[in-house]
Amino acid sequence: MADQKTDQQMHNINHTNLQEFVERILIANNTPPPHAAIVSKCLVSADLRGVDTHGSNRIPSYMERIRQGALNPSAEPTVTQATPAVAQIDAHNGFGFVAAHEGMKRAIEMAQIYGIGMVSIKHSNHFGMSAWLVQQALEGGMMSLVFTNSSPALPVWGGKEKLMGVSPIACGAPGGAGRPFILDMAPSVAARGKIYKALRRGEKIPTDWALDRDGARTDDPAEALQGVMLPMGGPKGSALSIMMDVFSGVLSGSAFAGHVTNPYDPSKPADVGHFLVAIKPDLFMTIEEFKGRMDYLYKRVVESERMAGVDQIYFPGEIEIITEEKRRKEGIPFAAAEVEALRKEADLVNVEHLKL
Ligand SMILES: NC(=O)c1ccc[n+]([C@@H]2O[C@H](COP(=O)([O-])OP(=O)(O)OC[C@H]3O[C@@H](n4cnc5c(N)ncnc54)[C@H](O)[C@@H]3O)[C@@H](O)[C@H]2O)c1
Repeated sequence: MADQKTDQQMHNINHTNLQEFVERILIANNTPPPHAAIVSKCLVSADLRGVDTHGSNRIPSYMERIRQGALNPSAEPTVTQATPAVAQIDAHNGFGFVAAHEGMKRAIEMAQIYGIGMVSIKHSNHFGMSAWLVQQALEGGMMSLVFTNSSPALPVWGGKEKLMGVSPIACGAPGGAGRPFILDMAPSVAARGKIYKALRRGEKIPTDWALDRDGARTDDPAEALQGVMLPMGGPKGSALSIMMDVFSGVLSGSAFAGHVTNPYDPSKPADVGHFLVAIKPDLFMTIEEFKGRMDYLYKRVVESERMAGVDQIYFPGEIEIITEEKRRKEGIPFAAAEVEALRKEADLVNVEHLKL
């Protein structure tokens, strides 16, 4: 999560300038302005939280999908109410950000009335960093579960072929005076986006992240992308990835079992599925009591006795909150090659360059 060392010159970009720039590129690529506002906000939210792997640097690959007709930027998600507390959304191959944003909005509305709201989304696309959906739920005062499936990158335990996705599992709960709980984790040792980021920046990767095509450990991101990601915790990481596919792919009617298309492959629709749940935190006690209990948990965690060499213990999501506070003030670091890739995108659609 922390900013990695790179030999390239770095630019610190103001987040408002970045969001406006990304929005202009999206609109110039036929994205309706309300959709462009959602997508740019989600991408810059990832940049701000230090999840650089799933931020504005994804613009070139997303725009290539639009240019090749693999993603429809103007598709409007349609909603079908299955039960009072359950809805299904068809994203119609539009931006995953737009369909999932609508999905979480509906889930929150249902949870406000029934205590819980569940939304299944089909025929969608990559929605980047899952935590922005957890944040959307927190802004609505809700606990949440955020699941998605994704393209094959990970072998199942005992296998050697790419079959399951590095599909993140995310969830959250509001805190009181302390920080909220925001868990957002890929079931691999590291998210595949971290390998793409290392490739962009000319960096090596740790040898426990991935195997090359011959099944050997590698520190070369290009070799790693030809091979497989390693699941975290052996069979447990692989099982979590299968769980994301059951809830997001099998249940929704979207692609599953290794049939989701890679977001960097512009040749065909991705057909990603998502699964979102919003839960009212004051179902069994007052909201004050719930938040007081969350604060107690937070304190117990961060004040726990530290192992040797550890200066501070963090709550899940806390490092990203601290990074966001810093980046809002100091800007978001971009490597020169990343700025250049965004400049090329701007030139393709005659959009003013990003202000450095
Ligand atoms: N949409 C997709 O298909 C897709 C696929 C893969 C990953 N992703 C995204 O990639 C991002 C990165 O995933 P990741 O697994 O590499 O994340 P990560 O390993 O950096 O963090 C995982 C979780 O651990 C927590 N954490 C990390 N260090 C901590 C510490 N020292 N103390 C306490 N908590 C700590 C973080 O707050 C986070 O909740 C996520 O936002 C995920 O949604 C998206």
